[in-house]
Amino acid sequence: MTDTRERWALILGASSGFGEATALALAADGYEIAGVHLDRREGQRHADEIRARIEAMGRRAAFFNGNAADDENRAAVIGRVAAILAERRAAGAQPYVRVMLHSLAFGTLKPFLATAPGDAISRRNMEMTLDVMAHSLVYWAQDVWRAGLFGDGSKIYAMTSEGSTRVIASYGAVSAAKTALESHCRQLAMEFARLGTGVTVNAVRAGVTMTPALMQIPERDKLIAHANDKNPMGRMTTVDDVAAALVALSGDGTQWITGNVIGIDGGELVSG
Ligand SMILES: NC(=O)c1ccc[n+]([C@@H]2O[C@H](COP(=O)([O-])OP(=O)(O)OC[C@H]3O[C@@H](n4cnc5c(N)ncnc54)[C@H](O)[C@@H]3O)[C@@H](O)[C@H]2O)c1
Repeated sequence: MTDTRERWALILGASSGFGEATALALAADGYEIAGVHLDRREGQRHADEIRARIEAMGRRAAFFNGNAADDENRAAVIGRVAAILAERRAAGAQPYVRVMLHSLAFGTLKPFLATAPGDAISRRNMEMTLDVMAHSLVYWAQDVWRAGLFGDGSKIYAMTSEGSTRVIASYGAVSAAKTALESHCRQLAMEFARLGTGVTVNAVRAGVTMTPALMQIPERDKLIAHANDKNPMGRMTTVDDVAAALVALSGDGTQWITGNVIGIDGGELVSG
C-alpha cells in the first residue's frame, strides 16, 4: 500500500558532500527537508542556496546552523522540527521523519605517534572526533524517537568508510569513530526492532568520494589515485551515486533491511 503520510528527512551535515546531495535527491523524490550543518559565512551562503533549491522544488526546508554534537543545539533543533511537524499535523497532514542521515565530517586528522606532542592526537582530539562522528548518532536517534517523530518505516543511515577496517597514518581517530559508528548502527537496529518501532538502522559505506572532507585528509592524493585505480567501475564514487542509492533504499518494501553496513562504492572494497 502506498504511504500517504508526509515524509520528512532530517539530514545531519546537510550543507556539503553526501548530506547536501541526499537532501536534494530526497527533496526531488517528494520529501520535506530539515537540515543541520556547521558553517561560517561562505558555507552559510551555500546552505542558503541548497535551501532555496529545495523550496524551488515545492518542498519545505528548515535549516539549522550549529554544532550537532552539542546537547542544547540538538534539543533546540528537535524541538523546532517537532513544532513544524505539529503545525503540519494541525493542518491535516500526517508527517513523520522517514529518513535520518548522519553525515558529519568533523574529525582530527593526526597520527597517534609523533615526537612533538602537538603533532599527535590528544585526548581532546580523540574524544571530540568520537563524539561528533560516532556517538552523536545515538543521542540524535534517542531524542528524535522520544519526541515521537519517527514512524513505521523510518530509516536511519550513518556514513562510514573503508577506514573502519583499514589503516592510514592520519586517520586513527576517524577510523575509531567509523568502527564505533558501525557498532552503534547494529545496536540501534537491534533495539529499535525489539521495541517494535518499525525503525531500521544501517551504516552506509561510501567509496572514496571527492568532497571537502576528503580534501582535508593529508593522504588524499594517494587515496584518490588508489580509488581510481582499484574501483572496478573505472571511476571514483560520487555524492550523487550515494544519494540515488539512499533514495532507493528509503523506498517502500525495505523494512527488512537493518543492522547492516551497506557498501555504495561500485565494488571498490572487494576489488583486489
Ligand atoms: N568523502 C569521502 O570519501 C567519504 C567516504 C566515506 C564516508 N565519508 C563520510 O561521510 C560523512 C560526510 O562526509 P562528506 O565527505 O560529505 O563531508 P563534507 O565536508 O562535504 O560535509 C560535512 C557536513 O557536515 C557538517 N558538519 C561537520 N561538523 C558538524 C557539526 N559538528 N555539527 C553540524 N554539522 C557539522 C558540515 O557543515 C557539512 O555539511 C563523514 O562522516 C565522512 O567520514 C566520506
